[in-house]
Amino acid sequence: MTITLSLAVCLFPDVAVLDFAGPMELLSFISPKILASGLMTYETPYTIEPVYLSVSKEPVVSASGMVIVHNRTYDEVKADEQFDILLVPGGLGTDPEVCPKALLDFLQKQAPNAKYVLAVCTGSEVLAHAGLLAGKRATTNKSSFNRIKEHYAAQKIEWVPKARWVVDGRFWTSSGVTAGADMGSNHPEMTFTLSLAVCLFPGVCVLDFAGPMELLSFMSPKILASGLMTYETPYTIEPVYLSCDEVKADDQFDILLVPGGDTNPEICPKALLNFLKKKKQAPNAKYVLSVCTESEVLAHAGLLEGKRATTSKSSFNRIKEHYTAQHNKVEWVPKASIHKEGDGEFAEFYGLV
Ligand SMILES: *[C@@H]1O[C@H](CO)[C@@H](O)[C@H](O)[C@H]1NC(C)=O
Ligand SMILES: *[C@@H]1O[C@H](CO)[C@@H](O)[C@H](O)[C@H]1NC(C)=O
Repeated sequence: MTITLSLAVCLFPDVAVLDFAGPMELLSFISPKILASGLMTYETPYTIEPVYLSVSKEPVVSASGMVIVHNRTYDEVKADEQFDILLVPGGLGTDPEVCPKALLDFLQKQAPNAKYVLAVCTGSEVLAHAGLLAGKRATTNKSSFNRIKEHYAAQKIEWVPKARWVVDGRFWTSSGVTAGADMGSNHPEMTFTLSLAVCLFPGVCVLDFAGPMELLSFMSPKILASGLMTYETPYTIEPVYLSCDEVKADDQFDILLVPGGDTNPEICPKALLNFLKKKKQAPNAKYVLSVCTESEVLAHAGLLEGKRATTSKSSFNRIKEHYTAQHNKVEWVPKASIHKEGDGEFAEFYGLV
């Protein structure tokens, strides 16, 4: 008797990707799609079917600049449709001045009969704004804690300052999934901008780039310009999310971030390999970062020859054998969570697990 629960991921402009990508990457282990793949062999009494919703048909542009294509708009939810779980992430867009009315209306309609209402980080502010936390215990992100507490004082919410998450009946609120970033620096006048290409491909693993990007976006021109962060940084990072076949010949990115996913040599896209190998890209980039199995693509492109690297433990032996036997002499480091190669600023290869 497997029960299917529907889950609405409640998106909005300037959402924080990691606030929903983190929970969703874990929850998707019990999605019908992953269960049907047969790759996971555990038994579960229920599966979770996610639907990504947002305010308009336009793709959602997140606070870190990542563009997200969602399934439906809030207006397209039928009058008699009820979601079992609502997930409300945080982000710059939860500010009451910009928080979309369609999102608030949707939550007011759905929350009373949902089995669970989950808010991450400043997503609690959206619940408070919709009047759903009145008289309840809740928490939110520490950086906005006092502002939110004061703003919604009339609702008599018991805000819990020291908690990673708080459960009050069906309402789960958490203080955040991202780690704090303290970027103090004494050289504010020397700000320069680094371009960063997030190299996407079909079958990419979202968490492999959403995690690093959420942290790196603290140094994006957009977030710095918002004035919400008050630290100083000697450089900013301007991200571009790209499909590698669209890059012009004379574009050179400073940083290449290659996430893992379907990197198997039989299906790994030629466009991605060719892009990485171009003289203007990996050979001359300041940093080449690979996460999880993407080291396999670097090896496949011949870019790890003679270098030390690491990769995901689950594919470690297969990758090691495949590329040691072939042309590449790569020294694969088994017990490392990060491996950095090179001591200068240039041409450093990392594998993050
Ligand atoms: C949401 O959109 C994706 C991509 O088109 C699709 O694979 C998925 O099945 C959709 N989910 C629902 C519940 O419609
Ligand atoms: C709270 O938000 C800030 C800024 O978005 C972030 O740096 C911090 O890690 C978050 N706190 C938690 C506990 O996630």
